[in-house]
This record gives sequence, structure tokens and C-alpha cells, in this order.
Amino acid sequence: MKDIIDQLEDRRADARLGGGQKRIDAQHSKGKLTARERIELLLDEGSFEEYDMFVTHRCTDFGMENSRPRGDGVVTGWGTVNGRQVYVYAQDFTVLGGSVSETHGRKICKIMDMAVQNGAPIIGINDSGGARIQEGVSALAAYGEIFKRNTLASGVVPQISLIMGPCAGGAVYSPAMTDFIFMVKDSSYMFVTGPDVVKTVTNEQVTAEELGGAGTHTKKSSVADGAYDNDVKLLAETRRLIDFLPASNREKPPVRPFFDDPARIEESLDTLVPENPNTPYDMKELIHKLADEGDFFEIQEEFAKNIITGFIRLEGSTVGVVANQPMVLAGCLDIDSSRKAARFVRFCDAFEIPLLTLVDVPGFLPGVTQEYGGVIKHGAKLLFAYGEATVPKVTLITRKAYGGAYVVMASKHLQGDINYAWPTSEVAVMGAKGAVEILYRSELDDPEKIAGRVQDYEESFANPFVAAERGFIDEVILPRSTRRRVARAFAGLRSKKLQNPWKKHDNLPL
Ligand code: HXC
Repeated sequence: MKDIIDQLEDRRADARLGGGQKRIDAQHSKGKLTARERIELLLDEGSFEEYDMFVTHRCTDFGMENSRPRGDGVVTGWGTVNGRQVYVYAQDFTVLGGSVSETHGRKICKIMDMAVQNGAPIIGINDSGGARIQEGVSALAAYGEIFKRNTLASGVVPQISLIMGPCAGGAVYSPAMTDFIFMVKDSSYMFVTGPDVVKTVTNEQVTAEELGGAGTHTKKSSVADGAYDNDVKLLAETRRLIDFLPASNREKPPVRPFFDDPARIEESLDTLVPENPNTPYDMKELIHKLADEGDFFEIQEEFAKNIITGFIRLEGSTVGVVANQPMVLAGCLDIDSSRKAARFVRFCDAFEIPLLTLVDVPGFLPGVTQEYGGVIKHGAKLLFAYGEATVPKVTLITRKAYGGAYVVMASKHLQGDINYAWPTSEVAVMGAKGAVEILYRSELDDPEKIAGRVQDYEESFANPFVAAERGFIDEVILPRSTRRRVARAFAGLRSKKLQNPWKKHDNLPL
């Protein structure tokens, strides 16, 4: 018996060594951890249950039968993050460059199926040279099977992709279909075609980092939702995100113990909005002051900064926040911010995460670039996402809510549940100056008269009370008591039930 146990331990030790010490050292010298080290940091200590450690490939071409590394370049299984179950796979770059073979793909699919059946998130750690070249179409088929599962799991369990090395070619489309992508700065990249092909086809010269590094994808393309300095930081932040998310669409988001008084008064909020309506202020200050313990997990922090998206907790429960940011483009909606916020709203709605919308929006950004870029279709995405969302929706207008953008930002008309406004808010078709210039065009050469008209308009319309008289605003609240009012609003909506008409699926303006 002892011999048999020793044999098992030997086999295990061999599998754990992956591609061997030399390749592990090479991985470390690039500032990267190995697949197993990453899993260890991601999960609670000692919680990892590994499967398929002894799986080997079946390829007999190119002399592959002479080398069958155990595990076949991917470590799979499940474990816990602060006690809550997650499924995980980590590609092992030390084994054949983490390349995807038929059996490597099967291992990933097995745990994806388990995750969906058992209702737990899937975290995929990507560090791979792509399709295993020796296996040809079998490797492509393996990707296809993973893609299919990404599609079917979407909206069922949260899917998170960590890009911690190369991820190129068609391989990028698995992360692309997951809910969140996070990258490591300087050691990861994603592109459909690499710098050499780009040079040949378009004669553009770029480095891998410029083409598909973390900076590119968090600031320019918006493919990635966040970037971190190193592996350790990325894994720690992923644990933090998991704490906000429900395990599946069958469960409510987790409720954590909280030590922050939900009725906390924040007097400083009374002066957050400047006297001059054109002076910006930082909407993030409001988010931090509202949140339990000021804890805010921001999504896409570096992209479309005119809108802020992320997670907070109120009375221990997760809330998704969407907020216009007056510091950037005066908080206007445009193509990028509409797309960013729409995707976030749809994630929250799919996973029963209530939505808090903080509004200070002067309208849609004008311009030829916006119109040619299809701002009509992209703006409609956000409108659509809010309109169909059935989760509890609480909205607070802090200052401007003008025109179509007023309607888009979780207004009463889009099934908003509780719509608050601060006394500083202005709910109107447009700003006073713009309105007067249209209504009194014939008086434009008389500045005194126009000034009077502007003042009249401001007094009549630049306030929350016209909307409140019609019931479009449920209550005008004091800024200092915002945390209490918003927390109470969500508390009142905890057992909300709302069902949209049956359909196979909607036809979101893509
Ligand atoms: C088999 C691979 C491999 C692959 C790397 N290796 N990629 N083996 N199939 N796709 C092996 C190498 O032979 C090497 O083995 C080890 O992994 C490490 O690779 P290096 O080249 O030494 O590492 P590095 O210099 O860091 O370069 C990493 C790399 C490069 C940039 C990823 O390996 C590379 O360009 N690989 C090929 C990428 C590629 O063209 N993949 C196919 C894309 S098509 P040894 O034994 O020396 O350690 C695709 C389609 C997907 O993926 C379609 C889905 C629908």
C-alpha cells in the first residue's frame, strides 16, 4: 500500500512541477507567478480542490507522443474566496506555452459545466500561446466548445477573465464574452492579430504593449475593465470583486456585516454642488460618502471618465452605481460612456444587483464625430438597458438633468422606483441660456432683455419642483441625509417583483 501511495505522490509532484524548474524560473524572471501560485493567492488557503491533474494530450503528430506532461497546461478545480465557492482554471505557460489542446479545452469545459450546474462564478486565468499548433483543428474545436459555454453561462454565473500573459488570436474571444476582464500591466496583452501581421497588412509599426497591453485596453479600446501593477495585486482585487457579486442568477448578492451607520449624516454634501452651475465637482466624493465604509470597487475607471460605474454596499448589500462625472466633459453622455454604462447596468440586472443612479447630465455630447460614430444607436443602449432593468432602481439628481439624457438616466419613465432630487437640481428640457436663445431669438440683440428672460426661465424651470409636482421626482431631499434616504429606499424595495412581457430575447441596439 505504501508503494502505491508513494507512486501517487510522485505523480502528483510531477504534475505540480508543470514544465519543470527551468521554465518556472523563466516565468518568475518575467515577473509572473505560475498557474498554481496564482490559484493559491486567489483562493482561501487550503481550499483548492483540483481535478484532472493527470490528464494528458493524445496527439501523436510532430513527435508529441514522446512528451505528455501531466495536466496538459491548465490547472482546474474549485475553491473558496472568503468562504464562497468559485470555479477556476489557470493556464500554465510552463507547459507547452499554456497552449490549448483538445484535452486542455476539455478540462476547462468540465469545470465550466460544473460552475453552471452548481451556481458559482468562473474565474479564468489566461496565460497562453493560443491554439496548440501541433493539434490543428482539434485545438480550434476546443476553443469553440469553450466559447459556446461562455455564451450559455452568460447571465447565469458571473464570469471573470484575468489576463496574466499572452492572449492572442481567436483566443481573445473567450474573455471577450465574459463579464469582466482584468489585466496585469506590462506582462499581459490581448490582440486578434499581433504586431508582425499588422506590419505586413497595414504597414503600421507597433509593439505588443502598444497594440494590446493593459494601457490600451483600459484607456482606448475598453476591452478590459481594470489593470493592476502585478499578479499579486490583480488576484487580491479579484477577491475583493467576488465579495460584491452573487454566486449565480439564482441567488441574491451577498450581505456582509457592516459597521457604518446607515443614517450617517454628511453635512459636507450640502456644499458639494458649487453655486455656479458651470463649475465642476467630483461625483466620486458623493459615492464614497454614500457607501458603507467608503468602499467603492470601480469598473472601467480609466475609460469614458464622464461616467462612473462600480459597486458599493449599503447596509451590507451590494449596489451597482452609475454616476455622471461633471469633472469630465461636464458629465455629458456620449458614445463611450453610454456603452460603458449600458453594459454595467445589464450586468447588474442579470444578477439582481440593485442600481443607484446619480445624475448630473447636461445632455448628449454634440459633434460630427459623435453622430458619425452612431451616438444614436449607442445612446439607445443605455436607454434600453435602464428601460428593461427590473432590479430595484433608485435615482438621485444632484444638479442638471436635461433633455433626453434626463429620461435616459434611470428616470421615472424608465421604471425608476424611487427618484430623488437635491434642491440644487434642475430638471428641464435644456439649460436656461439655450432655451431663451431659441424661444426669444428676435430679442437676441438686446442683452438686458435676454438676461431677464434667462432669469425668468431659471426661476420657473431650473429647479426640481416642476418635476416633483408631476410625481416624476418622489421627494426633494437634503444632501446631508442622502445616505439614509437612499439606504431606506433600497430597504423598501428588497422584495420588489417586476416582470417584463415574455419574449425569446430582446433586440438590444448593438
Ligand atoms: C504549441 C507553443 C505554442 C503554441 C508557445 N508554445 N505557443 N506550443 N502551440 N501555440 C511553446 C513554445 O514552443 C515553447 O516551448 C513554449 O511554449 C514557450 O514559448 P516561447 O516562444 O519560448 O515563449 P515566449 O518567447 O515568451 O513567447 C510567447 C509567445 C510565442 C509570444 C506566445 O510562443 C508565440 O508566438 N507562440 C505562438 C503563438 C501562436 O501563433 N499561436 C497560435 C495562434 S492561433 P518550449 O518547449 O521551448 O518551452 C490561435 C487560434 C485560436 O490561437 C482560434 C480560436 C478560435
